[in-house]
Amino acid sequence: MSYSNKLSGNVYWVGVNDRETELFENLWPLPNGISYNSYLLVDEKVVLVDTVKIDYQEDYLEKIMELTNDRPIDYLIINHMEPDHSGSIKELLRLFPEMKIIGNSKTTGFLKGFYGIEDNIMEVTNNDTLDVGEKTLEFHITPMVHWPETMMTYLQEDNIIFSGDVFGSFGAIKGSIFDDEIDLEFYEDEIMRYFSNIVGKYSPIAAKHIKSLSDLEIDIVATTHGPVWRNNPQYIIDKYLSMSTFNAEEGAVVVYGTMYGNTKKIAEEAAAGLSAAGIKEVKLYDASKTDKSYLISDIWKYKGAILASCSYNNELFPPMLSLVEALENRGIQKRYFGFIGTYSWSGGALKRLEQFADNCNINLVEPKVENQYAPTNKNLKKAFNLGKKVGEKIKGGKTN
Ligand SMILES: [Fe+2]
Ligand SMILES: [Fe+2]
Repeated sequence: MSYSNKLSGNVYWVGVNDRETELFENLWPLPNGISYNSYLLVDEKVVLVDTVKIDYQEDYLEKIMELTNDRPIDYLIINHMEPDHSGSIKELLRLFPEMKIIGNSKTTGFLKGFYGIEDNIMEVTNNDTLDVGEKTLEFHITPMVHWPETMMTYLQEDNIIFSGDVFGSFGAIKGSIFDDEIDLEFYEDEIMRYFSNIVGKYSPIAAKHIKSLSDLEIDIVATTHGPVWRNNPQYIIDKYLSMSTFNAEEGAVVVYGTMYGNTKKIAEEAAAGLSAAGIKEVKLYDASKTDKSYLISDIWKYKGAILASCSYNNELFPPMLSLVEALENRGIQKRYFGFIGTYSWSGGALKRLEQFADNCNINLVEPKVENQYAPTNKNLKKAFNLGKKVGEKIKGGKTN
């Protein structure tokens, strides 16, 4: 490997980059790829932390062999069993049959169910430690971020937290794995998109586990996706805490679903209203054109959102319905929402948006706008005023 992969004296990144997969979890677009990070500790014992997706195991094993001088792997720590990290376990066991797999009580069912592995498993509980020579590993059981078996591993002497998917990001590694050697702007939106889509549903529990790390001195955050945070680990810790407690930035998203452009016209008026209220960050999206993952991400990012949808078979327009269901599933909170529903004959869009407001702990800004047929001047004005009102709420000014 030609680039630096050393986290500390005897700890190495042995991850791989996936620039081939179109959709993460066969759902979420990966225009910038993704990395599957794994880490190797070469001490009196040789320890691996997590593995990589099965498609990349050849590259992965080569990287490991280069560093171990043909010594066998003694321990494999599995912080997370999702196959993007557990995919190479079987091959590792074939090569190193004596290898012990370290997990917690929830990991065992996954090992048996996914890979038929029942032997060589070492179960750890919260705060257990393992002496591997010069270094000591400490286990933190952190269930439900974002699977039941998720845990983190802390390397005491080097203050490294191997955090699993927490603190992760979309976006493959480009040149360097370290936060001080890369353009962080590239990762900013990808961190938000990864968090809001993959981990966001478990925000309250993620916030709890992240806060529980505050007792640890952390010099390096070594996540399973994206950069290694050695220069400013607090940046990613604070960002994750902020996202998981639903903090938001000044700005707003307008998302519309339209068949023939009428709802677009009304949505544009709402966006103009936001600008008139002094909101400079206004994102305007056609739900049929922009993948849902970006919409969820920006709705998570900003304080305000206006959803405008035509009706389709007595319901929301399908891409808007899919978005609203995804927001409900993730329990979106706290933002200021404005609603615009349109129809020609069936109605139904606004009614479903109202259900969304009932289902989530959001701040609904009234009055909602409903328009039949082509947009009327009166309703265009109402949409502008709704945008302005949402903008004023974001600014923290006028109330209802
Ligand atoms: Fe995962
Ligand atoms: Fe993952």
